[in-house]
Amino acid sequence: MLPYFSQDFGNPSGHYGAGLRAAEALDRARQEIADVLGAIPEEVVLTSGGTESINAALKGVAFAQRDAGAGSHIVTTQVEHHAVLHSAEYLERFGFDVEYLPVDGEGRVEPADVAAAVREDTALVSMMYANNEVGTVQPLAAIGRAVRARADELGRRVPLHTDAVQAATSLTLDVDTLNVDVLSLSGHKFGGPKGTGVLYLRRDVPFLEQASGGGQERQRRSGTENVPGAIGLATALRLSQGERERFTEQTSALRDRLLERVLEVCPDVRLNGHATERLPQNLHLCFDGVEGESVVGLLDGDGVECSAGAACTSATWEPSHVLLAMDVPLELAIGSVRMTVWPSLDEADIDYAADCLGAAVRRIRAEAAPAL
Ligand SMILES: Cc1ncc(COP(=O)(O)O)c(C=O)c1O
Repeated sequence: MLPYFSQDFGNPSGHYGAGLRAAEALDRARQEIADVLGAIPEEVVLTSGGTESINAALKGVAFAQRDAGAGSHIVTTQVEHHAVLHSAEYLERFGFDVEYLPVDGEGRVEPADVAAAVREDTALVSMMYANNEVGTVQPLAAIGRAVRARADELGRRVPLHTDAVQAATSLTLDVDTLNVDVLSLSGHKFGGPKGTGVLYLRRDVPFLEQASGGGQERQRRSGTENVPGAIGLATALRLSQGERERFTEQTSALRDRLLERVLEVCPDVRLNGHATERLPQNLHLCFDGVEGESVVGLLDGDGVECSAGAACTSATWEPSHVLLAMDVPLELAIGSVRMTVWPSLDEADIDYAADCLGAAVRRIRAEAAPAL
């Protein structure tokens, strides 16, 4: 990335030396991204992150589809990231009819249920690949197949978008394997720079640009490109996809050890999300009788960083929409904590985190217990 911050600082739209060198570097980055996705460079749009990609995917495809007479019905799920849910709500304000499919107790949707929701007027389906809270991985390739079969039955084309922001470190991003037409990524989730993202748009998917201006990114996202950011994202994507198997092996071993150790110190803990179809780095736990936010605070003091599954706003508990959709009871949702492991950790780190977690839960329960 470094030379493009200073030496080859030129604007890639410029027809002078530094600009041409920047444009060439951008082309190489785009090719690298396309190779990972099994796409062609023209299908890769560079953005400022997952949120922008998802907003553009939903709004850009939905408006273009409606303009083309494809209807205004959208199918998604109740457990999507807010980037999807709030974009869907935005579209509802413009007359779109959005169906939010429920999930089972482990956070999964059935491919047949997605296909059954597709109608004559469905403009777009948006299904997340892996959930950012509970780590559940959706059967995306099967969903893609089912949506295509249903669309064929109806004699139409129904594009499938996936929020793949959480997937890059452990799952394939090959768009043909996944049967998806639109895909969103965020650079910083796989070691790239913050503020960078990718929107993959299959060639034949109608799209109305959401950032108008100088016509960069083949008219799909105007604005001078973030050249060093694109290079950083592309390199990180290539490396992390190349190391997927090793990442999965290392993180799942650490994650399993963490769960085992936590079960030793808190036998009544409950694991949220799917037992096996989950991100290898994710552990989402519920502790009865504690507040997840208090656990997070105590652990932070011990140098263990994690997050809670419910937030207390103006004296009422707001459990995450994901846990609610999975029918996790309120009192358990309040006591939920998400822990993420990374290959840079070792077994001693895991054991330390489990001990700190056990101590925090014991302390909170002891403080909450009525004095005898
Ligand atoms: C599943 C998912 N989608 C979208 C986003 C938004 O990505 P960004 O904050 O990089 O825009 C996130 C971020 O955590 C995420 O986890």
